Amino acid sequence: MSVRTLVVLAHPHLAASRINAALAATAAGTEGVTVHDLYAAWPDGRIDVAAEQQRLLAYDRVVLQFPFYWYSAPPLLKQWLDEVLTYGFAYGTGGTALHGRTLRVATSTGGGRDAYRPGGTNRFPVADLLLPFDATAHLTGMRYQEPFVVYGVLDMTDEQLAAEQARYRALLLAPAADGEGPGGVAGAAAQDVVSEEGAPVAAGPAAAVV
Ligand SMILES: Cc1cc2nc3c(=O)[nH]c(=O)nc-3n(C[C@H](O)[C@H](O)[C@H](O)COP(=O)(O)O)c2cc1C
Repeated sequence: MSVRTLVVLAHPHLAASRINAALAATAAGTEGVTVHDLYAAWPDGRIDVAAEQQRLLAYDRVVLQFPFYWYSAPPLLKQWLDEVLTYGFAYGTGGTALHGRTLRVATSTGGGRDAYRPGGTNRFPVADLLLPFDATAHLTGMRYQEPFVVYGVLDMTDEQLAAEQARYRALLLAPAADGEGPGGVAGAAAQDVVSEEGAPVAAGPAAAVV
């Protein structure tokens, strides 16, 4: 069965976006990938938690895509994590719904690659700044995949952007790794919790924005 991927897009000003709008368009046009625009879905900030949890069950891979804002994600994505990854669903007793699925961050930075290193303007690698997502994946029994980072977007040429879109598409199309998919156990935290649920089976629509 082909891999089902949900791109959870969080951009507060998507109409003014160049990079994330382009990447989201690439994702939406990629087989097996659905783009879920959080700011469009919940413009008043009132997230339907049950609907979001149900949506997650239909996918093998979750990609959190956003512009890097103050070394982190825009606020609606943090709220989404706070409200959707509940005890008993994503962690804690019976909280096995996300086990074995994969989590990846896809982000764009104004700073260049060279700024994200010890001694550079931003001091730390982007992967280090994103460690809370790694820890979140671990606690929820998800497999954390290396972040997809588009650096130095402020002066990026159309050709460079097209190359990044191609790189994103290839990553989204990557075949499933051994044992990848719902029901598996990825993180140590997941092993503390006995699974009481079978693997979810609902299929996600291909090449769609919801
Ligand atoms: C509020 C705000 C905070 C930002 N913080 C950062 C940051 O911490 N690091 C960085 O490299 N770029 C930062 N930027 C630049 C954005 O990451 C950049 O504008 C964005 O990736 C461009 O993507 P877009 O075309 O989809 O909007 C920030 C931009 C804004 C508006």
